[in-house]
Amino acid sequence: MAEEQKFSTAGNDMDRRSFIKWSVVGWSAFAAVVAGYGSMVTRFLFPNVLFEPVQIFGAGYPDEYEVGQVSEQFKDQYGVWIVRDDEKIYALSTVCTHLGCTPNWMPSETKFKCPCHGSGFYTTGINFEGPAPRPLERFKIALSDEGEIIVDKTKKFQQEKGEWTDPDSFIAV
Ligand code: FES
Repeated sequence: MAEEQKFSTAGNDMDRRSFIKWSVVGWSAFAAVVAGYGSMVTRFLFPNVLFEPVQIFGAGYPDEYEVGQVSEQFKDQYGVWIVRDDEKIYALSTVCTHLGCTPNWMPSETKFKCPCHGSGFYTTGINFEGPAPRPLERFKIALSDEGEIIVDKTKKFQQEKGEWTDPDSFIAV
């Protein structure tokens, strides 16, 4: 009889241990599933959004620019100089074609001078000193129906490819 009781108690211990073990496994699996769904919901609520800088912008009206002027009005915000000569208006990129620094406009010397390695560019954007291998790039520029200047940075024009004669690369004035 005592043997039976002993046996019976051992069986209960096994059941309790087994129950606890499977409870831990079950709750762990449940917690993993909940965590997985939680991370999916978080990804849904906070998706990856790429905030692209504005590529197309209005730059005022042609008569706001004087002949011979290099406007730095849009340099910081859009990386563009608006230049007017006696025939046209064009939009120059402010990215040095050597290693990408931002040149400074030097009005007294009528040139752009890169502070990084000394490249110099005429107001046309043509490189003439320092290591820059090619001219600054120009962006698409046009007049809207209302006569406002619209610069479109999604389209570039490179002098060395003969693209500065493209009518989209300047506004005749
Ligand atoms: S980055 Fe302009 S000269 Fe090197």
